[in-house]
Formats: sequence, structure tokens, C-alpha cells
Amino acid sequence: MSSPRPDPKPCREQDIGLFEVMKRDGWARLGKFHTAHGILTTPAILPVINPNIQTISAREMWDKFGVGGIITNAYIIWKHDKLREPALESGIHELIDYPGVVVTDSGTFQSYIYGDIEVENEEIVEFQHDIGVDVATMLDVFTRPDMSPEEWEQGVQTTAERASPAISSAQGTPLNGPIQGGLDNDLRRKSAQLMGAESFAIHPIGGIVPLMEGRRYTELFAMILAIRKDLPPERPIHMFGCGHPMLFPFAIALGVDLFDSAAYVLFARDGRILTPEGTIHLDNLQEWPFPSASLSGVTPEVVRGMNADERCGILARVNLEVTLAELARCRQAVHEGKIWELAEARSHCDSDLRKAWNSIIDRKNSDEAISGLVESQHLQRNGGIRYMDDSPIHRPDLEHIRATMKERWRPPPITGWNGRGEHRFVAIFAIAEAPWRRSIEDCVKRLLLLNPAAIPMIATPLGLLPYSLEDINPYAHLMRTETEMGDLDDDFIEAELQRLGLADLPMNIIFYAEDKGIMESMVDAVVHAEQLGEIDLTVLDDQANHQAVSTWLHRWSVADKLALFVNVDSVHTWQALAKGRMVMSRTGRVKNILTADGTHLASPRLTDGGISLTLEGAKWLHDLPSASEVDSPGSEGGGLSGPAVVHVDEDAEPFVRKGRNVFHGFCLSADSTLRPGQPCLICNSSGELIGHGISRVDANEMMAFRKGIAIRVRDGVRDE
Ligand code: GUN
Repeated sequence: MSSPRPDPKPCREQDIGLFEVMKRDGWARLGKFHTAHGILTTPAILPVINPNIQTISAREMWDKFGVGGIITNAYIIWKHDKLREPALESGIHELIDYPGVVVTDSGTFQSYIYGDIEVENEEIVEFQHDIGVDVATMLDVFTRPDMSPEEWEQGVQTTAERASPAISSAQGTPLNGPIQGGLDNDLRRKSAQLMGAESFAIHPIGGIVPLMEGRRYTELFAMILAIRKDLPPERPIHMFGCGHPMLFPFAIALGVDLFDSAAYVLFARDGRILTPEGTIHLDNLQEWPFPSASLSGVTPEVVRGMNADERCGILARVNLEVTLAELARCRQAVHEGKIWELAEARSHCDSDLRKAWNSIIDRKNSDEAISGLVESQHLQRNGGIRYMDDSPIHRPDLEHIRATMKERWRPPPITGWNGRGEHRFVAIFAIAEAPWRRSIEDCVKRLLLLNPAAIPMIATPLGLLPYSLEDINPYAHLMRTETEMGDLDDDFIEAELQRLGLADLPMNIIFYAEDKGIMESMVDAVVHAEQLGEIDLTVLDDQANHQAVSTWLHRWSVADKLALFVNVDSVHTWQALAKGRMVMSRTGRVKNILTADGTHLASPRLTDGGISLTLEGAKWLHDLPSASEVDSPGSEGGGLSGPAVVHVDEDAEPFVRKGRNVFHGFCLSADSTLRPGQPCLICNSSGELIGHGISRVDANEMMAFRKGIAIRVRDGVRDE
């Protein structure tokens, strides 16, 4: 027999109530919430334990289900002498026999269900402190969707007024500061600002149970989107009363870290089974649709024949298993950078969820909340990108690279590989499959040999892609990389050319053909049409020309990757590489990028088509003139300012110089352009470069968090 699960280890005293983010996928995050009864890994669900009726005991939750934290109700304990006295005497953990994280609610939910309750805010908070809970909850005002706007406003106001007395009464016990405001998202944001200004540990979103019961997911998600920006980023967000696994991927993708619910037992009482795809009634089951330890050896028929308590016990265990498994799946998805993929898959399971999905995906980027969500996404991910829609380009995880390309990409110099280009036009290669260097590179080279000023683009399911970026994730790693005829309607192409600033140029489409001869004649025809004259095919005969085009394509690729991923103005890159050279691999891919004097600036990554700076590259960027000096009229650059700069304090400096990571709490300032997953330069307070790395946070988060790694340092500038 395996040994019983040991009790948790308390966190360090000074870390109690702190939240640390270990990994993130946009707003979704894998975190650790530190408490005296262990470190809770998030996203997590706190199953509701009723101290009077424990269908699954808290002890079983810990021992058998591996649950790290539960929630119970302080008001019920306070109200019943037989619970209250032992709780005060020996503490809540002993009362319910649970060694992990215990969160308590305050009685607000009872006031929503039953009307008035008999306890005041300060008294119930002090009581929670006295019984030793890990996170207490103040007495907030439940703002039901069916209340009037005046009542919502009053609820927000009263909750905010009670915040400071609650914090005093908690005497250092970490406290939940619920966000209220009914259906008015401006009020919700106001509530987030008011509550965020107080020293709460966690912010639950309250008053949403009726929305979930009414399957009003569009309103629910719009609310979460709206308030996210107004909440302190270093505190976990909790969705009060959310326990249906179907909602987890969405909520997590929108930044929710904690859930609590009694759904596992409430649904079980009704004979219903929770699944990530929806709810199933026991009466409709011939077979179990998934494996479950709790169901081993019994058929649906057998469970139907059980008495009510026995049946509820089994189904509650199944529901808890499914709930925990779906959360584990979500955490794994965050780990892999695939939470939006999972949310999309789930959106197909339920019509109301699908509507909510569409409401997020269809929103224009001008919406402030959605653009914050998009900006938080990593530009690139590893591995294959799965999508199920015909037009997934607005999925937030895929949208960011499109938006960044719009902002940072500029065409290459018109002069081209031989310095003599002048007839600019766009040639779109369509219906070709990745890897495009295999399917179309010969034709791209032919095009450039015949017209050095042509701009070869690839039509992909994610929109137009400059050929220079042909190997980048996500474009090259979609499940389907080739466009189909149906993807190529005029409006779409027009919009894409607009996005990339190419709408004023003549445009031609070259359709992929297996037969090389056919493709070559299409290229020739396009050049012929554009140049309005005979074309000189003798240029194709000279090997030196082919070599020059290859070199130019490599430089173009480096210039565009540094622009897209490092925010480097391409004017600088073209200058630096003018006489530079590339070290090539045996398979003909660029390994290292060197300047004329042999300085190694960067290396392309084969895995995701991105580019990694070297320390020399970081020094080069640090010494470059600022964007305003570059953006001269007529330049082909984008006026880009280079990677964001973070200043760290003198305690961190020696560590950064040795290549060690930057931790939160040591940063003095960060450029507002800082984004998670993107490169940054690290300077000391005098502005000297001391290292470079990949930020895990944006500028706001950089300054707000107090625990965890802020920048993964790639290399440091050693002391002389
Ligand atoms: N449980 C479910 N909803 C709520 C809420 O709005 N406030 C509190 N305190 N508990 C809840």
C-alpha cells in the first residue's frame, strides 16, 4: 500500500499571501499561492466543504484526491455552537480534519440565498482570523443581475466601504476582496479599482452565480475581460461559485486563477455528471463515457439502482475527479502555450459557450480590453498549431503576431540584391504548402532575379506573410499551412495588403503548381506584365546573381525577424549586415549572423523560426541611436525603438552580470513596450548595459509582483 499523503509544508513566514507566476500563456498563468498550510498550485479549484454534511470528507479530498485547498463557510461555523466552539478552540484545520489550504467565505452567499444574515463584516472577519483560516473573506454585498443599477452601485459602494475595516479585523490573515457591480462593466471596473487599492490578497469576482446558472457566458466573459486591467496583476483572480469544468479553459485564458464550487456534489444529488463537454444525466447512460477510478466495477444500471446517498457519493466522486482532471488539462495547456486552443475546442461543445467564444473572437482589436489580452500573448509558440475554425486569425494567441507585424514590418529596400531595383510590386504566392522554402523558394529567387524590387509574399491561412519570415511559428506550423481558393477573396487580400502597408502597390497572385515549368512561366508572366517590356532572362544564367539573391534573402530574413521579434528598426540591420556574413549550417540554413568585423549579433532558431540575440547583439542594440534619430523621411525603417529596457537596482547588478535571472523586487523601471516572452536589455541605474534576457512580464507586472522570476537572463556583461 502506498504511504499516506504527507501534510503540507508551510511557506516562508514572509511569503504568506504572496502569489508567484511560474509560467504563463497570455493572461493564463501557472502560479503558486503561498500560505501557512502549503503552497497552492494554480489554476486550482477549492471544492466546497459543508462542515455539517461532508459527502466527500475534507480528509479524503486531501488524501485520495490530492486537493491542495478547500473552501468552507465561516458563517455556518460561527452560527452553530457545536462547530464554533471547537473551531475557536483548536482551529479550522482540526475541525474539518484537513491539513491543506483552508479558505472561508463570509456569509454573503447565505444572504443572497436566504436574505438577511445575523453577522457584521468586522465580526465575521475577526472570527475567520481567530479560527486560523489561510484566506478569509470580507462580508461583501452580492449584486444580483436582476437588481437595479442603483442597487448595483450601492453594493459596490458598501463593499468598498467595508474593505478597510475588514483588513484591520483580519489582523494579517490574507483576505479576499470581492468585485461586485452586477451587469454594469463600468461599475465592475470601478469596484476593481476601489478594491484593488486595498491590501487584499485575492480578488474573487462575486455575484456571478446567477449568470452561470442562466448560461449567460457572453456577459460573464465580457465582465472578466473588462475588469482584468483594473486589478493588481500580482493578485490571483477567483471566480466565486464557478465549478463547471466546461468553463475552465475559457476562464483561465481570460486570467482566472482560482475557482470554488459545490457543483460536484449538487449535480451528483440530481444524478448529473459533469464533463468538460457539458453535463450528462445518469438516466441517459448505457455506458460510462470515460474511465474513472470511482466507477470501477459498476455499470450505470447498477448506480441507478443504488439508494440516493450511495448514488450521490459515487457521482460526487466522479464529478470531483472530472473537475480536477480538466483543471490538470488546463494547466498542461498553459504550460504548452495552448490554452486558447483548448478553449476553442471546448467552445464547440455548447451553443451558449460558442456564442461567448464568438463574442470574444469577433471583437475588433480597437477594444481596449481585448487589445490588452492580445498584447499579453507570446508572439510564438513551439510545435504544431491546431485550430478548428475556417478563419481563426482573430484568436488572441494568433492575433498578436499579426498585430505586431502590422506595427513593425516594413518592405525591404527597393534597390534589392543588385542595387538597381525600381519597379515595386507585390507577388503573392498562393495555395503553396509549408515549408515554403521547399515549395516556392526557387520561384521566389527567379522573381527577384528578374525584378529585384518585387516583394514576395505568401498567402497563408493566417493572412499574408512576407517570404522573409517563411519559417516562423505559428505560420509555418499550422495544421493546414496552404491557403485554399476560398481563403483568397478580394476583400481579404485587400485588407491584408492594407495591414502590411502594401495597398498602394500593384499586386499579382502566383498560384502554386507542382510542375516547376508552369510556375516559372507564371513568374515570368507576372514580371513581364509589371515591367511593361521585354524581360531579360539572361540574368538567370549567372551563378553570381543566384548567390547574390540568396545572400540578400538571408539578410532580408534577419532584418525582418529582428524587426518583428526584437523591435529593431530594419534600417539598422541592413546597415550592420551590408558587409557582414552568415555562418551556414550543413543543410543550408543560417546559423550565425556576423557583422563585417566578425561580431556575432544573433542566431536564427530553427525550432520556431525566431531569432536569439547574443550579448554582442545586445551591446550593438544598446549603442544604436534612438528611434527618433532613425525615422528620417524616405527611410524604409519603421521607426522602431529596439527592445525594451529594464533598469535594475545595485543589489541585482552583480547577479545579472553573472548571467543569473532577475527577480521581482529588484527592478527600478521598465519601458512600457516590455512584453512577456520578448527580449529586453537590462541596465543598471546609470544606464549601463549589464545583460539581456527574455522578460516574463509586462512593465506593469514587472513593478507589481514581489515574488518570482521577472527576466530570464540569457547573458550578462561580466565585470572587467
Ligand atoms: N459565493 C458565490 N458568490 C459570492 C459572492 O458574490 N460573494 C461571496 N462572498 N461569496 C460568494
